[in-house]
Amino acid sequence: MRVDCDAAIIGGGVIGSSIAYHMAKRGKKVILLERERLAGQASSAAAGMLAAQAEMNEAGPLFELARRSRAMFPELAEDLKQLCGIDIGLVQKGMFKIALTSEEETELHRIIDFQCAAGEKAEWMSGEEVRRHEIEVSGDVRGAMFIPDDGQVSAPDLSLAFAKSAASLGAQIREFTEVKSLILEKGNVAGVMTQEDTIYCDRVVVASGFWSGRLLEQAGCKTPIYPVKGECFSVISEVPLIRSTIFSHGCYLVPKKGGRTLIGATMKEHSYDRKVTLEGIATLLERAKRLVPGIVHAEWEKAWAGLRPQTPDGLPYLGEHSKWKGLFIAAGHYRNGILLSPITGKLAADWAEGKEDGKLPMKAFAVERHSDDPIVKAGVK
Ligand code: FAD
Ligand code: GLY
Repeated sequence: MRVDCDAAIIGGGVIGSSIAYHMAKRGKKVILLERERLAGQASSAAAGMLAAQAEMNEAGPLFELARRSRAMFPELAEDLKQLCGIDIGLVQKGMFKIALTSEEETELHRIIDFQCAAGEKAEWMSGEEVRRHEIEVSGDVRGAMFIPDDGQVSAPDLSLAFAKSAASLGAQIREFTEVKSLILEKGNVAGVMTQEDTIYCDRVVVASGFWSGRLLEQAGCKTPIYPVKGECFSVISEVPLIRSTIFSHGCYLVPKKGGRTLIGATMKEHSYDRKVTLEGIATLLERAKRLVPGIVHAEWEKAWAGLRPQTPDGLPYLGEHSKWKGLFIAAGHYRNGILLSPITGKLAADWAEGKEDGKLPMKAFAVERHSDDPIVKAGVK
């Protein structure tokens, strides 16, 4: 069957769903194509931290993107709730980024300095001060960087809220629809082919997480995205163990509704399966115990894993490919796709209208930056 629309978006994770929502909000006729269930991959495995500061150890383009995106959440939460009734679980109670060693303490002071110089809030707290806020935190904790503005959401709810809100604004959402190929003609993208339909449109956004690279190979685009598997588990306790997120090297604990605490996450590069291993859970438990010893008395809930879409330089690919007019890429958000979903959706809606953001250092995210073709690479704008 032949279908026409303004834009086809490939991938129903948090990134594709945010793009569908932002484009539909601007009156575009969009189709979101997901080969499995919406948010069935990395986007529902995520802890939901909005760690614009806790995850950023250096100034640079990612820090700029992250700060812009975090600031969009309060209004977004309201808008999504109104449109589709889903509460994305936005919590703004800050995060403690923990130092267990003197080296970590020195490093955290450096991070506090650069982030405060950039205009963000961050302060050093001694171990005693941290324990006054969070009584379950271990005596091994030397101190922490307290970040009042880093928060969290429910990652699965955010992804679904984007998709449902997009639908309420007129977007077509198709689950169990795999895009088999891109239609490319004379330097333009002309649509996509699924197992059933040919969808014609002059804008296609590839937002297929770690799988994006395979589709883009068809267009001769080199976007070498690879998976970094992350395993997590959750526990339940009658009295919540913590009130704010406790973030440390190799382990974090995130308090969720109903006395749940989410513990994440392992990092296994080039691991393509989503099996949860005993080794992964045992390692996380050891690290979590060092931060919050009382975790051992909590009740086991469940464990899961997901594949983070990583790029060679750790930055997402965001923008149009210069060889194919209308072919846009929004993929490779690695550890921060939940955080970066609002700004990515906004940027993609701008692209569809031929607008440029103007304030963000978009060159760093150029989609051709890893191309082997010197002519294409020279076109990085
Ligand atoms: P995905 O969620 O993987 O979605 C891509 C979708 O594309 C999939 O549903 C797939 O089925 C679909 N697809 C692929 N190929 C096709 C095709 N040909 N046709 C149709 N559909 C296709 N980020 C944060 O900001 N905060 C966190 O606290 C956080 N914690 C994390 C913890 C873990 C354990 C993991 C694994 C990740 C975490 N992340 C976090 C990172 C975040 O989850 C990812 O960056 C984000 O989910 C990527 O979203 P995506 O939409 O690009 O990819
Ligand atoms: N951002 C947390 C993770 O990727 O594990």
